[in-house]
Amino acid sequence: MEEIVVGIDVGTTKICTLVGRVEDGNALRILGVGIEPSGGIRKGVIVDLDAASQAIVRSVERAEQSSGLEITSALVSMAGAHVSSINSRGVVSISGEVVDEYDLARALDSARAVAIPHNREVIHVVQRGYSIDGQDGVRSPIGMHGYRLEVETHIITAATATVENLRQCVGAAGVEVQQFVLNPLASAEVVLTDSERQMGAVVCDIGGGTTDMAIYVDGKVWHTMVLAVGGNHVTADIAHGLRLPVAQAEEIKLQQGYAIRAEVGAEDYFAVRPFGEDKAVQINRQELAHIIEARVEEIFEISLQEIKRSGYDGLLPAGMVLTGGSSALPAIRDLASDVLGMPVRIAQPEDLIGMTDQLYSPAYSTSVGLLRWALKMQKNELALGQGRRSRSKGKPMIDLNGAKDWLKRLLP
Ligand SMILES: Nc1ncnc2c1ncn2[C@@H]1O[C@H](COP(=O)(O)OP(=O)(O)OP(=O)(O)O)[C@@H](O)[C@H]1O
Ligand SMILES: [Mg+2]
Repeated sequence: MEEIVVGIDVGTTKICTLVGRVEDGNALRILGVGIEPSGGIRKGVIVDLDAASQAIVRSVERAEQSSGLEITSALVSMAGAHVSSINSRGVVSISGEVVDEYDLARALDSARAVAIPHNREVIHVVQRGYSIDGQDGVRSPIGMHGYRLEVETHIITAATATVENLRQCVGAAGVEVQQFVLNPLASAEVVLTDSERQMGAVVCDIGGGTTDMAIYVDGKVWHTMVLAVGGNHVTADIAHGLRLPVAQAEEIKLQQGYAIRAEVGAEDYFAVRPFGEDKAVQINRQELAHIIEARVEEIFEISLQEIKRSGYDGLLPAGMVLTGGSSALPAIRDLASDVLGMPVRIAQPEDLIGMTDQLYSPAYSTSVGLLRWALKMQKNELALGQGRRSRSKGKPMIDLNGAKDWLKRLLP
Protein backbone atom coordinates (compact mmCIF):
# COMPACT_ATOMS: atom_id res chain seq x y z
CA MET A 1 0.00 0.00 0.00
CA GLU A 2 1.71 3.16 -1.13
CA GLU A 3 -0.27 6.07 0.07
CA ILE A 4 0.30 9.70 -0.71
CA VAL A 5 1.12 11.87 2.30
CA VAL A 6 0.90 15.65 2.63
CA GLY A 7 2.51 18.01 5.13
CA ILE A 8 2.09 21.76 5.59
CA ASP A 9 4.84 23.45 7.57
CA VAL A 10 3.42 26.77 8.72
CA GLY A 11 6.54 28.71 9.61
CA THR A 12 7.11 32.29 10.65
CA THR A 13 9.00 33.06 7.43
CA LYS A 14 7.69 30.52 4.94
CA ILE A 15 4.86 28.09 4.34
CA CYS A 16 6.00 24.82 2.82
CA THR A 17 3.50 22.27 1.53
CA LEU A 18 4.95 18.93 0.44
CA VAL A 19 3.29 15.97 -1.23
CA GLY A 20 5.17 12.68 -1.03
CA ARG A 21 5.07 8.93 -1.30
CA VAL A 22 7.33 6.15 -0.07
CA GLU A 23 9.20 4.12 -2.60
CA ASP A 24 11.23 0.95 -2.22
CA GLY A 25 10.60 0.60 1.47
CA ASN A 26 12.02 3.78 2.91
CA ALA A 27 12.95 6.28 0.21
CA LEU A 28 10.71 9.31 0.10
CA ARG A 29 9.66 10.61 -3.29
CA ILE A 30 8.60 14.25 -3.33
CA LEU A 31 5.73 14.61 -5.80
CA GLY A 32 4.80 18.22 -5.16
CA VAL A 33 6.29 21.29 -3.53
CA GLY A 34 4.73 24.65 -2.65
CA ILE A 35 7.02 27.09 -0.89
CA GLU A 36 5.65 30.59 -0.29
CA PRO A 37 6.62 33.45 2.02
CA SER A 38 4.49 33.53 5.17
CA GLY A 39 2.16 36.31 6.13
CA GLY A 40 0.36 37.08 9.35
CA ILE A 41 2.52 34.81 11.53
CA ARG A 42 4.69 35.99 14.41
CA LYS A 43 6.82 33.77 16.57
CA GLY A 44 5.11 30.72 15.15
CA VAL A 45 1.60 31.97 15.94
CA ILE A 46 -1.07 33.39 13.63
CA VAL A 47 -1.70 37.07 14.27
CA ASP A 48 -3.56 37.93 11.06
CA LEU A 49 -6.06 35.36 9.80
CA ASP A 50 -6.43 36.81 6.31
CA ALA A 51 -2.75 37.16 5.57
CA ALA A 52 -1.95 33.72 6.97
CA SER A 53 -4.83 32.07 5.06
CA GLN A 54 -3.70 33.65 1.82
CA ALA A 55 -0.14 32.46 2.25
CA ILE A 56 -1.31 28.93 3.07
CA VAL A 57 -3.70 28.92 0.10
CA ARG A 58 -0.86 29.94 -2.24
CA SER A 59 1.45 27.30 -0.88
CA VAL A 60 -1.19 24.55 -1.17
CA GLU A 61 -2.11 25.63 -4.69
CA ARG A 62 1.49 25.45 -5.78
CA ALA A 63 1.92 22.00 -4.32
CA GLU A 64 -1.27 20.92 -6.09
CA GLN A 65 -0.04 22.31 -9.39
CA SER A 66 3.36 20.72 -9.16
CA SER A 67 2.00 17.34 -8.07
CA GLY A 68 -1.12 17.35 -10.22
CA LEU A 69 -3.03 16.11 -7.15
CA GLU A 70 -5.81 17.68 -5.14
CA ILE A 71 -4.93 18.14 -1.49
CA THR A 72 -7.80 17.50 0.90
CA SER A 73 -6.06 16.69 4.16
CA ALA A 74 -2.60 17.16 5.61
CA LEU A 75 -0.39 17.02 8.66
CA VAL A 76 0.29 20.52 9.91
CA SER A 77 3.22 21.76 11.99
CA MET A 78 2.63 23.54 15.26
CA ALA A 79 4.86 25.80 17.34
CA GLY A 80 4.73 28.91 19.46
CA ALA A 81 5.04 29.88 23.08
CA HIS A 82 1.48 28.67 23.77
CA VAL A 83 2.66 25.07 23.55
CA SER A 84 3.50 23.40 26.83
CA SER A 85 4.03 19.92 28.10
CA ILE A 86 3.86 17.81 31.23
CA ASN A 87 4.83 14.30 32.20
CA SER A 88 2.11 12.08 33.57
CA ARG A 89 1.80 8.46 34.67
CA GLY A 90 -1.22 6.23 34.03
CA VAL A 91 -1.95 3.03 35.94
CA VAL A 92 -4.53 0.29 35.31
CA SER A 93 -5.05 -3.31 36.28
CA ILE A 94 -4.82 -5.66 33.35
CA SER A 95 -8.21 -7.01 32.37
CA GLY A 96 -7.21 -10.37 30.91
CA GLU A 97 -4.16 -12.57 31.20
CA VAL A 98 -1.98 -10.48 28.99
CA VAL A 99 -1.81 -6.79 28.16
CA ASP A 100 -3.78 -5.90 25.07
CA GLU A 101 -4.44 -2.62 23.36
CA TYR A 102 -7.57 -2.03 25.46
CA ASP A 103 -5.43 -2.05 28.56
CA LEU A 104 -2.91 0.24 26.97
CA ALA A 105 -5.67 2.59 25.83
CA ARG A 106 -7.07 2.68 29.38
CA ALA A 107 -3.64 3.30 30.87
CA LEU A 108 -3.08 6.15 28.45
CA ASP A 109 -6.51 7.49 29.27
CA SER A 110 -5.67 7.51 32.93
CA ALA A 111 -2.38 9.31 32.20
CA ARG A 112 -4.33 11.81 30.19
CA ALA A 113 -6.75 12.38 33.02
CA VAL A 114 -4.43 14.98 34.55
CA ALA A 115 -6.10 18.32 34.85
CA ILE A 116 -5.93 20.03 31.49
CA PRO A 117 -7.58 23.46 31.53
CA HIS A 118 -10.60 23.77 29.25
CA ASN A 119 -8.82 26.33 27.08
CA ARG A 120 -6.06 23.88 26.16
CA GLU A 121 -6.01 21.01 23.72
CA VAL A 122 -3.94 17.83 23.78
CA ILE A 123 -1.68 17.67 20.72
CA HIS A 124 0.40 14.60 21.50
CA VAL A 125 0.48 11.89 24.11
CA VAL A 126 3.95 10.47 23.86
CA GLN A 127 4.51 7.08 25.48
CA ARG A 128 7.85 7.31 27.23
CA GLY A 129 7.97 3.92 28.85
CA TYR A 130 5.98 1.14 30.48
CA SER A 131 6.22 -0.99 33.54
CA ILE A 132 4.33 -4.17 34.34
CA ASP A 133 3.87 -5.24 37.97
CA GLY A 134 6.50 -2.72 38.96
CA GLN A 135 9.05 -3.99 36.46
CA ASP A 136 10.44 -0.93 34.67
CA GLY A 137 11.94 -0.72 31.23
CA VAL A 138 9.30 -2.73 29.36
CA ARG A 139 9.66 -1.78 25.71
CA SER A 140 6.47 -3.09 24.23
CA PRO A 141 3.81 -4.15 26.73
CA ILE A 142 1.23 -5.67 24.36
CA GLY A 143 1.06 -9.46 24.82
CA MET A 144 2.97 -9.52 28.10
CA HIS A 145 1.64 -11.27 31.22
CA GLY A 146 0.92 -9.33 34.39
CA TYR A 147 -1.65 -7.69 36.64
CA ARG A 148 -0.81 -4.03 36.63
CA LEU A 149 0.27 -1.84 33.75
CA GLU A 150 1.83 1.56 34.16
CA VAL A 151 2.64 3.94 31.35
CA GLU A 152 4.80 7.04 31.54
CA THR A 153 3.66 9.74 29.14
CA HIS A 154 4.71 13.15 27.95
CA ILE A 155 1.60 15.18 27.18
CA ILE A 156 1.89 18.14 24.87
CA THR A 157 -0.89 20.71 24.92
CA ALA A 158 -1.59 23.92 23.04
CA ALA A 159 -3.93 26.87 23.48
CA THR A 160 -7.25 25.88 21.91
CA ALA A 161 -7.86 29.31 20.38
CA THR A 162 -4.47 29.31 18.65
CA VAL A 163 -5.03 25.79 17.39
CA GLU A 164 -8.43 26.73 16.03
CA ASN A 165 -7.02 29.77 14.22
CA LEU A 166 -4.50 27.56 12.50
CA ARG A 167 -7.15 24.99 11.63
CA GLN A 168 -9.28 27.75 10.15
CA CYS A 169 -6.46 29.12 7.98
CA VAL A 170 -5.60 25.66 6.67
CA GLY A 171 -9.31 25.10 6.10
CA ALA A 172 -9.36 28.19 3.89
CA ALA A 173 -7.18 26.25 1.47
CA GLY A 174 -9.77 23.47 1.42
CA VAL A 175 -7.56 21.26 3.55
CA GLU A 176 -8.60 19.36 6.64
CA VAL A 177 -6.02 19.02 9.39
CA GLN A 178 -5.38 15.32 9.75
CA GLN A 179 -3.19 15.94 12.75
CA PHE A 180 -1.04 18.68 14.25
CA VAL A 181 2.59 17.77 14.84
CA LEU A 182 4.85 19.76 17.11
CA ASN A 183 7.69 21.33 15.08
CA PRO A 184 10.68 19.71 16.80
CA LEU A 185 9.07 16.27 16.70
CA ALA A 186 8.62 16.55 12.95
CA SER A 187 12.20 17.81 12.50
CA ALA A 188 13.54 14.97 14.64
CA GLU A 189 12.06 12.44 12.23
CA VAL A 190 14.49 13.75 9.65
CA VAL A 191 17.61 14.76 11.53
CA LEU A 192 18.03 12.30 14.42
CA THR A 193 19.75 8.98 13.86
CA ASP A 194 18.49 5.91 15.71
CA SER A 195 21.62 5.74 17.79
CA GLU A 196 21.36 9.40 18.85
CA ARG A 197 17.75 8.81 19.80
CA GLN A 198 18.76 5.80 21.84
CA MET A 199 21.82 7.35 23.52
CA GLY A 200 20.14 10.64 24.36
CA ALA A 201 20.19 13.80 22.26
CA VAL A 202 18.38 17.11 21.92
CA VAL A 203 17.03 18.35 18.60
CA CYS A 204 17.07 22.12 18.23
CA ASP A 205 15.30 23.75 15.27
CA ILE A 206 16.10 27.47 15.04
CA GLY A 207 13.74 29.03 12.52
CA GLY A 208 12.76 32.63 11.95
CA GLY A 209 10.47 33.19 14.92
CA THR A 210 10.92 30.18 17.18
CA THR A 211 13.53 27.84 18.56
CA ASP A 212 11.99 24.42 19.02
CA MET A 213 13.60 21.67 21.04
CA ALA A 214 12.90 18.04 21.84
CA ILE A 215 14.88 15.75 24.11
CA TYR A 216 15.12 12.09 23.17
CA VAL A 217 16.31 9.44 25.60
CA ASP A 218 16.07 5.65 25.25
CA GLY A 219 14.55 6.07 21.83
CA LYS A 220 11.60 8.17 23.08
CA VAL A 221 10.64 11.82 23.43
CA TRP A 222 11.12 12.80 27.05
CA HIS A 223 10.73 16.53 26.88
CA THR A 224 9.77 19.31 24.47
CA MET A 225 10.23 23.08 24.54
CA VAL A 226 9.29 25.94 22.24
CA LEU A 227 11.10 29.27 22.70
CA ALA A 228 9.83 32.45 21.06
CA VAL A 229 13.18 33.57 19.65
CA GLY A 230 14.82 32.87 16.30
CA GLY A 231 16.63 34.25 13.27
CA ASN A 232 14.26 37.21 12.93
CA HIS A 233 15.59 38.56 16.20
CA VAL A 234 19.12 38.39 14.84
CA THR A 235 17.98 40.33 11.78
CA ALA A 236 16.18 42.90 13.92
CA ASP A 237 19.35 43.42 15.97
CA ILE A 238 21.36 44.00 12.80
CA ALA A 239 18.80 46.48 11.49
CA HIS A 240 18.86 48.29 14.78
CA GLY A 241 22.61 48.19 15.33
CA LEU A 242 23.61 49.20 11.81
CA ARG A 243 20.61 51.47 11.19
CA LEU A 244 19.41 49.59 8.14
CA PRO A 245 15.95 48.56 6.92
CA VAL A 246 15.01 45.04 8.01
CA ALA A 247 15.05 43.64 4.47
CA GLN A 248 18.57 44.84 3.98
CA ALA A 249 19.68 43.61 7.37
CA GLU A 250 18.36 40.17 6.43
CA GLU A 251 20.28 40.23 3.15
CA ILE A 252 23.50 41.20 4.88
CA LYS A 253 23.02 38.48 7.46
CA LEU A 254 22.64 35.85 4.76
CA GLN A 255 25.59 37.07 2.71
CA GLN A 256 28.09 38.30 5.28
CA GLY A 257 26.92 36.86 8.57
CA TYR A 258 29.25 34.97 10.88
CA ALA A 259 28.60 33.67 14.36
CA ILE A 260 31.96 34.17 16.05
CA ARG A 261 33.33 37.69 16.19
CA ALA A 262 36.88 36.73 17.16
CA GLU A 263 37.27 34.73 13.95
CA VAL A 264 36.55 37.70 11.68
CA GLY A 265 39.33 40.09 10.70
CA ALA A 266 39.11 43.56 12.31
CA GLU A 267 39.91 45.17 8.96
CA ASP A 268 37.29 43.23 7.03
CA TYR A 269 34.81 45.69 5.47
CA PHE A 270 32.04 45.37 2.89
CA ALA A 271 29.94 47.98 1.16
CA VAL A 272 26.17 48.41 1.46
CA ARG A 273 24.00 50.95 -0.20
CA PRO A 274 21.05 51.76 2.06
CA PHE A 275 17.80 51.92 0.06
CA GLY A 276 17.12 55.30 -1.50
CA GLU A 277 20.62 56.63 -0.90
CA ASP A 278 23.31 57.17 -3.50
CA LYS A 279 26.31 56.63 -1.39
CA ALA A 280 27.37 53.20 -0.25
CA VAL A 281 28.40 52.81 3.38
CA GLN A 282 31.24 50.62 4.61
CA ILE A 283 30.31 48.07 7.20
CA ASN A 284 32.79 46.34 9.42
CA ARG A 285 32.29 42.61 9.23
CA GLN A 286 33.55 42.11 12.75
CA GLU A 287 30.96 44.52 14.04
CA LEU A 288 28.28 42.58 12.19
CA ALA A 289 29.56 39.33 13.66
CA HIS A 290 29.54 40.95 17.08
CA ILE A 291 25.84 41.76 16.80
CA ILE A 292 25.02 38.28 15.52
CA GLU A 293 27.14 36.52 18.12
CA ALA A 294 25.49 38.34 21.02
CA ARG A 295 22.00 37.27 19.99
CA VAL A 296 22.82 33.72 18.91
CA GLU A 297 24.80 33.17 22.09
CA GLU A 298 21.77 34.30 24.05
CA ILE A 299 19.54 31.87 22.16
CA PHE A 300 21.84 29.00 23.13
CA GLU A 301 22.08 30.21 26.71
CA ILE A 302 18.31 30.17 27.01
CA SER A 303 18.24 26.76 25.35
CA LEU A 304 20.77 25.45 27.86
CA GLN A 305 18.73 26.83 30.74
CA GLU A 306 15.66 25.06 29.42
CA ILE A 307 17.55 21.80 28.97
CA LYS A 308 18.81 22.05 32.53
CA ARG A 309 15.37 22.86 33.80
CA SER A 310 14.05 19.69 32.23
CA GLY A 311 16.45 17.77 34.46
CA TYR A 312 17.70 15.63 31.57
CA ASP A 313 20.87 17.59 30.85
CA GLY A 314 22.99 14.72 32.14
CA LEU A 315 21.36 12.25 29.77
CA LEU A 316 22.49 13.68 26.44
CA PRO A 317 25.81 12.09 25.47
CA ALA A 318 24.97 12.46 21.78
CA GLY A 319 24.62 16.22 22.31
CA MET A 320 22.61 18.55 20.16
CA VAL A 321 21.45 18.13 16.59
CA LEU A 322 20.91 21.59 15.20
CA THR A 323 18.59 22.35 12.29
CA GLY A 324 16.16 25.01 10.98
CA GLY A 325 17.01 27.86 8.60
CA SER A 326 19.16 29.72 11.10
CA SER A 327 21.52 26.76 11.51
CA ALA A 328 22.94 27.72 8.08
CA LEU A 329 24.73 30.65 9.73
CA PRO A 330 28.48 30.07 9.31
CA ALA A 331 30.28 29.08 12.55
CA ILE A 332 27.05 28.55 14.48
CA ARG A 333 28.06 24.98 15.29
CA ASP A 334 31.20 26.05 17.13
CA LEU A 335 29.37 28.78 19.00
CA ALA A 336 26.65 26.34 20.06
CA SER A 337 29.16 23.79 21.19
CA ASP A 338 31.05 26.42 23.24
CA VAL A 339 27.96 27.67 25.02
CA LEU A 340 26.33 24.29 25.58
CA GLY A 341 29.44 22.31 26.37
CA MET A 342 28.22 19.36 24.36
CA PRO A 343 28.84 17.94 20.90
CA VAL A 344 26.80 19.71 18.21
CA ARG A 345 26.04 18.57 14.68
CA ILE A 346 24.06 20.35 11.95
CA ALA A 347 21.57 18.29 9.98
CA GLN A 348 19.13 18.64 7.11
CA PRO A 349 16.87 16.39 5.01
CA GLU A 350 18.62 13.66 3.05
CA ASP A 351 17.77 10.72 0.84
CA LEU A 352 14.90 12.23 -1.10
CA ILE A 353 13.86 11.47 -4.64
CA GLY A 354 11.90 13.63 -7.05
CA MET A 355 11.38 17.38 -6.67
CA THR A 356 14.08 17.90 -4.12
CA ASP A 357 15.99 20.95 -5.39
CA GLN A 358 15.31 23.32 -2.52
CA LEU A 359 14.67 20.78 0.17
CA TYR A 360 18.27 19.88 0.96
CA SER A 361 18.50 22.70 3.48
CA PRO A 362 18.05 22.73 7.26
CA ALA A 363 15.10 25.10 6.77
CA TYR A 364 13.07 22.14 5.44
CA SER A 365 13.66 19.60 8.19
CA THR A 366 10.21 20.21 9.69
CA SER A 367 8.51 20.10 6.28
CA VAL A 368 10.09 16.79 5.26
CA GLY A 369 9.68 15.53 8.82
CA LEU A 370 5.90 15.92 8.55
CA LEU A 371 5.91 13.47 5.64
CA ARG A 372 8.08 11.01 7.57
CA TRP A 373 5.70 11.36 10.51
CA ALA A 374 2.71 10.67 8.28
CA LEU A 375 4.34 7.50 7.01
CA LYS A 376 5.10 6.28 10.51
CA MET A 377 1.52 7.03 11.49
CA GLN A 378 0.26 4.85 8.65
CA LYS A 379 2.40 2.00 9.85
CA ASN A 380 1.12 2.47 13.41
CA GLU A 381 -2.43 2.43 12.22
CA LEU A 382 -1.85 -0.76 10.31
CA ALA A 383 -0.42 -2.35 13.41
CA LEU A 384 -3.34 -1.10 15.52
CA GLY A 385 -5.84 -2.32 12.98
CA GLN A 386 -4.41 -5.81 13.09
CA GLY A 387 -4.24 -5.96 16.85
CA ARG A 388 -7.89 -5.05 17.29
CA ARG A 389 -9.65 -8.11 15.95
CA SER A 390 -9.72 -10.45 18.95
CA ARG A 391 -11.55 -8.32 21.50
CA SER A 392 -14.46 -10.09 23.18
CA LYS A 393 -17.63 -8.85 24.89
CA GLY A 394 -18.05 -7.87 28.49
CA LYS A 395 -15.04 -5.59 28.47
CA PRO A 396 -14.99 -2.11 29.89
CA MET A 397 -16.77 0.36 27.68
CA ILE A 398 -14.13 2.16 25.77
CA ASP A 399 -14.76 3.80 22.51
CA LEU A 400 -12.12 2.11 20.46
CA ASN A 401 -12.60 4.46 17.60
CA GLY A 402 -12.07 7.37 19.90
CA ALA A 403 -9.13 5.59 21.43
CA LYS A 404 -7.75 4.89 18.01
CA ASP A 405 -8.24 8.47 17.05
CA TRP A 406 -6.05 9.69 19.81
CA LEU A 407 -3.73 6.75 19.66
CA LYS A 408 -2.89 8.36 16.37
CA ARG A 409 -1.62 11.36 18.25
CA LEU A 410 0.94 9.26 20.01
CA LEU A 411 4.40 9.48 18.85
CA PRO A 412 5.66 7.31 16.24
N1 LIG B 1 22.73 31.42 5.76
C1 LIG B 1 22.00 31.87 6.75
N2 LIG B 1 22.56 32.54 7.77
C2 LIG B 1 21.83 33.00 8.80
N3 LIG B 1 20.49 32.86 8.89
C3 LIG B 1 19.88 32.19 7.91
C4 LIG B 1 20.57 31.67 6.80
N4 LIG B 1 19.67 31.07 5.97
C5 LIG B 1 18.47 31.24 6.56
N5 LIG B 1 18.58 31.92 7.71
C6 LIG B 1 17.50 32.34 8.63
O1 LIG B 1 16.63 31.26 8.87
C7 LIG B 1 15.36 31.78 9.27
C8 LIG B 1 14.28 31.00 8.59
O2 LIG B 1 14.35 29.68 8.99
P1 LIG B 1 13.15 28.67 8.77
O3 LIG B 1 12.79 28.64 7.34
O4 LIG B 1 13.55 27.39 9.42
O5 LIG B 1 12.02 29.42 9.61
P2 LIG B 1 10.46 29.15 9.67
O6 LIG B 1 10.22 27.69 9.66
O7 LIG B 1 9.76 29.95 8.65
O8 LIG B 1 10.09 29.79 11.08
P3 LIG B 1 9.67 29.14 12.49
O9 LIG B 1 9.96 27.69 12.44
O10 LIG B 1 10.52 29.87 13.49
O11 LIG B 1 8.24 29.48 12.65
C9 LIG B 1 15.36 33.24 8.90
O12 LIG B 1 15.47 34.03 10.06
C10 LIG B 1 16.61 33.39 8.04
O13 LIG B 1 17.21 34.65 8.19
MG1 LIG C 1 10.14 26.17 11.10
